[in-house]
Parts: sequence; C-alpha cells; structure tokens
Amino acid sequence: MKLTLKIWRQSGPNDKGRMETYPIDGIEEDMSFLEMIDVLNLQLVREGKDPIAFDHDCREGICGMCSMFINGEAHGPGRGITTCQLHMRRFKDGDTIFIEPWRSGSFPVIKDLVVDRGAFDRIQAAGGFVSVNTNGNLVDGNALPIAKDHADTAFDAATCIGCGACVATCPNGSAMLFVAAKVSQLSLLPQGRPEAKQRALAMVEQMDKEGFGNCSNTGACEVECPKEISLEHIARMNREYMAAAMTKE
Ligand code: SF4
Ligand code: FES
Repeated sequence: MKLTLKIWRQSGPNDKGRMETYPIDGIEEDMSFLEMIDVLNLQLVREGKDPIAFDHDCREGICGMCSMFINGEAHGPGRGITTCQLHMRRFKDGDTIFIEPWRSGSFPVIKDLVVDRGAFDRIQAAGGFVSVNTNGNLVDGNALPIAKDHADTAFDAATCIGCGACVATCPNGSAMLFVAAKVSQLSLLPQGRPEAKQRALAMVEQMDKEGFGNCSNTGACEVECPKEISLEHIARMNREYMAAAMTKE
C-alpha cells in the first residue's frame, strides 16, 4: 500500500508547528496504525531526519497513550477502538491521511503528536481514590455484597483509560466524561461512599482549575470514546455534585 501522510510537526511547546508531507510505501493491511508510523520513523532515521514523536505504551487498547487525530477523528475511523487497535486495512492504496495531536488548551503540545495530559493526573489525585485503613484490620472486599447492576455499571465506568479523546473531540474542550467516569465508578461501590461528597466537589473543582470547558450535551465525547463510556455517568456525577454542594458544611 502506498500512502501520503500529512503529519503535524512541532519541535516544542513554543514552536508554531506546521503540517508536513511524507510519502510512504510498502504498508501492509495487517499492520496497526502505530506500526505504520514505526515504518515511517525507520525511514526518517535512515535519512538522518528527526522521527515523529508520538505516545504509545501497551499497544493493546489499555493504557490510553496513543492519542492522535486521524483524518479529523480521535483515534481515527471506527468505534470503540484506540489508535493502536486501528489497522491499515481501514485505508486504501493511494489514500492521503491527516495525523494531528489532540487539540485542547488544557493538553499543551510537547512535541509533534505528544501532548501533556498531566491535567488528568491532577484531577485524579484530587479525589479519584478510596482511603484504605492499613492498620491490620482490613475488611475482605468480597465480604461486602454489591448489587449486580451497580457492580456492572461501576465496571463500565472503570474501563475509562484516561486517553483524553473526549476532551479533544468536545467543541468546548470539556473533561466531563472522564471526570464523570471516575466519580461514578467509586460512587456506585460501598467502598467509595464515605468520601463521595469530597470526591465530587474536589474533582470538579480541579477540572475547572485546569481550564477545561463546560459540557453542553453535544454527546461527541461518548461517540468518540474508545471505551464507549456512557453519558449517563455525567448525569450521575451531576447528581453527586449537586447533593454534595447542597449539604456541604
Ligand atoms: S471517558 Fe473515554 S474518551 Fe474520555 S478519557 Fe475515558 S476512555 Fe478516553
Ligand atoms: S498504546 Fe496503549 S491504548 Fe494504545
């Protein structure tokens, strides 16, 4: 397969950046999208040029690192997949493919396709955890009965991999789907209830501090989320937040 790649190049956060064109040949349909970029990078290194910087780790859809826009879609064509799960059979010989980093003021570009998603870590650190008593009197988790529908919904929320596609896709740059998945997951489990109020307030406060936009219910985040996290989690987080705000001391 012969392709023309139009890739965003930016040497650092202060560089203006530009699209550059790279012809590439010998791409097989069974390669993943990241393997295709590996082939290009090998070619660039052999030519003594700077390879494309891009994030990746697990290459199996679980770490959330492989963030990029492909032909204007977060993680490219297809639903419920990350870029590392996208295969070249989705494209045709002779295609031109546009590849860009996430576009959001809260995710500044570090280099080329790599963005800083530290804002998500700071939101998580603000409340996305349960405090556990480690003094030797631990209660076996399995001793706490949890309703099946709650366990299933909490599990769905827990599949969020923190990739940031929801933010990058949202016209407002909102992080509501990510934050809602984290708040919702813990709010549904008995272990998460004691700190539920502080959690909702602190995570939303940190989200606002990081400069993410507001949710206006466009639903684009749910469509592009590789884990198909439901908008219902946003509704649950809003209920948690309202209840916490109204009963705050
Ligand atoms: S909600 Fe979906 S799109 Fe957003 S960070 Fe989590 S997995 Fe990625
Ligand atoms: S590299 Fe881990 S999700 Fe794609």
